Amino acid sequence: MVETKDTKKVGIIGCGAIGTLIAEAVEQKRVACDELILYDHNEKKAEKLKSYLSFPVTVVASLDEMLRFEPKVIVEAASQQAAREYVEQITAEDIDLIVMSSGALLGLNVQSSKVHVPSGAIGGLDALASAALAGIDEVLLTTRKNPKAFDLNNKEPKVVYEGRAEEAARLYPREMNVAATLALTVKPAKVRVQVVSDPAVQRNRHEFQVKWRFGEMFLCFMNDPHPENPRTSALAAWSAIKLLQLLLEK
Ligand SMILES: NC(=O)c1ccc[n+]([C@@H]2O[C@H](COP(=O)([O-])OP(=O)(O)OC[C@H]3O[C@@H](n4cnc5c(N)ncnc54)[C@H](O)[C@@H]3O)[C@@H](O)[C@H]2O)c1
Repeated sequence: MVETKDTKKVGIIGCGAIGTLIAEAVEQKRVACDELILYDHNEKKAEKLKSYLSFPVTVVASLDEMLRFEPKVIVEAASQQAAREYVEQITAEDIDLIVMSSGALLGLNVQSSKVHVPSGAIGGLDALASAALAGIDEVLLTTRKNPKAFDLNNKEPKVVYEGRAEEAARLYPREMNVAATLALTVKPAKVRVQVVSDPAVQRNRHEFQVKWRFGEMFLCFMNDPHPENPRTSALAAWSAIKLLQLLLEK
């Protein structure tokens, strides 16, 4: 029997860069959680993360097993494919779900108020969502990352993609969830995207310009890449930790 009474559990799907930072934040008691349930399709990753923690942790072998522990919140920190595969089953259980791989949601018609997309590697989404109500004319996102993030070694800046956010998130599922998060926030307005592999940048730089009915916005984020995953910015994990804190206090 899985004990569920009065204990606040958090499930983490994906024990890589983001999952690890979230688990560490839980261990540091930054959020009101009593037990972590970890799942990674590579079970060694979940076991390795567990071995670093002195917090109560259970490693499970499937999402079904995780759901039997009745977590209050589940964080998807795995991949767009994982998010697509699991979102319906998790929301059917009425569990709050934080989706890091936001690109997955572009192709799904998810209406549940239990699905939460954190601001991830960017911010200012409140202002964008407000402007979207009045009407947005144009959004242009320029993302610059070091060639390492794209497994490239170009010596000069190189535009690796130009087009629409939906396509950018599909072609770069591990690098361009930012484009998806923007697209989800401003819809039905469209987001134009330019992705640059730039040896001069050491930080992941996301810059976006917005022209809307009553003004303009210019936002820029320069994030340290995660040491173990240069595609991912630490800010993305902290945005999930902040959201987790709020959802656990509900
Ligand atoms: N929203 C944002 O702004 C933002 C920013 C950075 C990263 N992300 C996304 O968040 C996700 C996690 O990022 P990360 O840097 O921690 O990645 P990572 O590669 O470091 O870790 C992902 C982990 O998930 C596991 N995994 C993959 N598919 C799985 C599945 N179907 N079921 C169970 N486990 C699975 C992998 O084995 C790995 O351990 C990625 O999709 C990434 O693109 C989003």
